[in-house]
Amino acid sequence: MTSLRNRIAGFMILAIATVIVLASLVAMQMMQRPLPETATIPVARQIAWNVRFAEAAPEAARAAGIVFADAPAAGLPEDRSTRRWTRILGRQEMTHPLTVTADPAGTTLRISVDLGGQWLVLPLPDLRPPRGGWRIFSAWMALIVIGATAVSLIAATRITGPLRILESAVDRIGRDGVLVPIPETGLPETQATARALNHLSARLKSAMESRMRLVAAAGHDLRTPMTRMRLRAEFVEDDAERGKWLADLAELDAIADSAIRLVRDEVSQGDAQDLRLDRLVADVAGELAAMGHAVTVRPLAPVTVTADPLSLKRAVRNLVINAATHGKAARVGLTQEGARAELVIEDEGPGIPGPLMERAFEPFFRVDEARRKALPGAGLGMAIARQIIDQLGGEITLANMQPKGLRQRVVLPVRD
Ligand SMILES: Nc1ncnc2c1ncn2[C@@H]1O[C@H](COP(=O)(O)OP(=O)(O)OP(=O)(O)O)[C@@H](O)[C@H]1O
Ligand SMILES: [Mg+2]
Repeated sequence: MTSLRNRIAGFMILAIATVIVLASLVAMQMMQRPLPETATIPVARQIAWNVRFAEAAPEAARAAGIVFADAPAAGLPEDRSTRRWTRILGRQEMTHPLTVTADPAGTTLRISVDLGGQWLVLPLPDLRPPRGGWRIFSAWMALIVIGATAVSLIAATRITGPLRILESAVDRIGRDGVLVPIPETGLPETQATARALNHLSARLKSAMESRMRLVAAAGHDLRTPMTRMRLRAEFVEDDAERGKWLADLAELDAIADSAIRLVRDEVSQGDAQDLRLDRLVADVAGELAAMGHAVTVRPLAPVTVTADPLSLKRAVRNLVINAATHGKAARVGLTQEGARAELVIEDEGPGIPGPLMERAFEPFFRVDEARRKALPGAGLGMAIARQIIDQLGGEITLANMQPKGLRQRVVLPVRD
């Protein structure tokens, strides 16, 4: 976001400076300085008139305040100005020798006209361009750039403020999809964005909670009719038929149970205790193998974690069952990487298409409709597992393997 702000600011500085330079050039072009002749002709006429007056009536001229001197005025000779005024006065039909001098500070010019033995000294307006023009221009440009930089930085910060909030809010979205509350402070735009995001987050949270409550309520309400059905099923005469009824009811029961547990697990975990994760994984693998699932156990590093054993076992079991059923055969391995335990469950199944990977963790989401019939299930196993692992400060990630199979990776903090 900083780079976006800098780019906006840079663009604005460039735009402002370019517009001002172009506008200045146009203005200078339109408001041209007066042509030299316009300014010099009246002065030249005055000098010529003075010279003629001094020659025709020296006494009257002296009385009128015209200065006569024995030598040209002291000061630094200005050769360029001397040549220029000789030319200008020549046009007024005045051909006397003359010299232009500047006082030592270089600010006042005087013209001395040779009247043959006597010099007429007159002040001369300084029509030269101001000295140090480039320095003035540079200072003017520097002021423009400094002003434009300040304005651009303020504007760019204001423009990108809401985007910065969005970026940091998205970074802090939790696994459950809930935004962390954002402080509603700062510039008005930033406050409005923070308010909108907080509002959105509150609505999302309440929508998610009501969905969870619905799931739990449905699971709960199913139990009563299911108990009645089980009682009735017990009276079915045909053994095979009764077996089928009871198996279907047991599956329904398991689904209702998972739904209730999903919600209960979200709000509470059982008592956390130190436990050996390698033993827990070996237990789960043993149980599932005994049920006829293909589960291979790779080396299991002795790792101790802090968790509620029942919850953690449920999470691990859900993931290993998925590998053994959806993935045909499960391979389980456990290692310790620094302060984290890494449980890897690999299988030989079709994996999960990339775009659906995250959705596999949603309640009731099942990847392949066609597989529903072959593999019964509610689509809750992974949602439950993720919730349990999240609460323990861990993380579950999925990745497809080459050429086939899914790798489920569970990372958990080990006990200090
Ligand atoms: N190892 C795997 N290989 C391929 N697909 C998988 C794997 N694990 C999960 N899936 C897909 O993700 C979906 C969601 O899994 P999840 O465990 O949540 O539900 P389920 O196994 O269908 O039902 P339940 O676990 O509630 O009995 C599955 O239906 C399946 O399509
Ligand atoms: Mg499952």
